[in-house]
Amino acid sequence: MTTTLHINGKDRQVDADPSTPILWALRDTLGMTGTKFGCGAALCGACTVHLNGQPIRSCVTPISAATGQKITTIEAVTDGSDKVGKAVHEAWVKHDVAQCGYCQSGQIMSATAFLKSVAPGKLPSEADIDSAMAGNICRCGTYARIRAAVADAAKTLA
Ligand code: FES
Repeated sequence: MTTTLHINGKDRQVDADPSTPILWALRDTLGMTGTKFGCGAALCGACTVHLNGQPIRSCVTPISAATGQKITTIEAVTDGSDKVGKAVHEAWVKHDVAQCGYCQSGQIMSATAFLKSVAPGKLPSEADIDSAMAGNICRCGTYARIRAAVADAAKTLA
């Protein structure tokens, strides 16, 4: 069965069962491998994408739940066209956040969704940042650099 998904501003056709997780439609059908498979159970955040601007776990969200809605992936958030994504990406590079890198696209997607939710001109507290990022696990323990990069991106955007 063919499903039309709206991904990063374009309609894409996916020939897959409606129960197929968005993650596999992205990676296997469309070749968009920036979104990672971590736990497959919505526990680690590596597969985070945005659905209508909200961070979701693409490993457990079927494509049937995304028809007619906007999916945004790491490929669009870090291509320089998104102001918040650009600030987050630049802060990530400045703070040298990534270690092995596996969790990082999910981290950036959660950070970007969070900073888009912050009221203009406001700076989030460390507790706000930790709370927003709590669903993204990093086995390399880069949490301190993630926190610093999110705070730095927030300053850039404020
Ligand atoms: Fe290795 Fe996060 S950088 S899992």
